[in-house]
Amino acid sequence: MNEIEIQFELNGRARSASVAPELLLVDFLRRDLELKGTKTSCEVEVCGSCTVLLDGRPVSACTTLSHEIDGRSLTTIEGLGDDNALDPVQEAFWEEGGFECGFCTPGMILAARALLDENPDPSEEDIKTALDGNICRCTGYRSIIQSVNRAAELRRGQDASTARPLDERRIDGVAKVRGEPVYTADLTHPGMLYGRVLRSPHAHARILGIDTSAAESHPGVVAVLTTADLGDVEQFHGPLVKDTPVLAMDKVRYEGDAVAAVGATAGGGATTPHWRKNLV
Ligand code: FES
Repeated sequence: MNEIEIQFELNGRARSASVAPELLLVDFLRRDLELKGTKTSCEVEVCGSCTVLLDGRPVSACTTLSHEIDGRSLTTIEGLGDDNALDPVQEAFWEEGGFECGFCTPGMILAARALLDENPDPSEEDIKTALDGNICRCTGYRSIIQSVNRAAELRRGQDASTARPLDERRIDGVAKVRGEPVYTADLTHPGMLYGRVLRSPHAHARILGIDTSAAESHPGVVAVLTTADLGDVEQFHGPLVKDTPVLAMDKVRYEGDAVAAVGATAGGGATTPHWRKNLV
């Protein structure tokens, strides 16, 4: 497949690259440029973990194609602040403790930064609206809203003497607001395979058949698993009673139920759209 030549600005620096037409921006950033501060979770533009700024506006890198950044300016969490100082939004999140595990924090900070660039004095409702595409599983959101309020104060030049003392702040804060912590999905090993799970778009439906042939013939695909490939012992899981199918059998029971799993090499060009196109 012909690659596309693109030129773009990344975190203030002019860059160029050659990308496959279907390469997702999140894969381009994380895999090709090794910018792992952009997280990947839902892969369907629901959680906001992969939020980056394109020409200053927040977009989901999981549903943006890499060639769409051609001629545009891209900001990731690695582009905020520098070696010596945090961006005021990062500083505010550290000061207010607007994070727990830190997984959502890069996307949350970039969404907040876009809000404050447009609206320097947002109301609480403005903040909630701006962040409603960014899900946090840990904080309960109160500290995040306080962080955005504090960031607005800092950007308006509020007296720094009102800042929370450093010894009252969390020691893991600087790394987390910079997007530096390494999570399982950030790890890479030579020769590793990449996995994807095809999930049901339906809340309740019978499975009449699964045709894996197109996926299996795709370059780089090593294995396509359905429930028929699992042994009797491995077909069910569950915390107490093992009664939940690992991969759906005759029917799916919720939107997101796992139907099939694919393992492929990174070089096969197999990104999320390929899995869906070939398996559905
Ligand atoms: Fe853990 Fe938000 S801090 S998901």
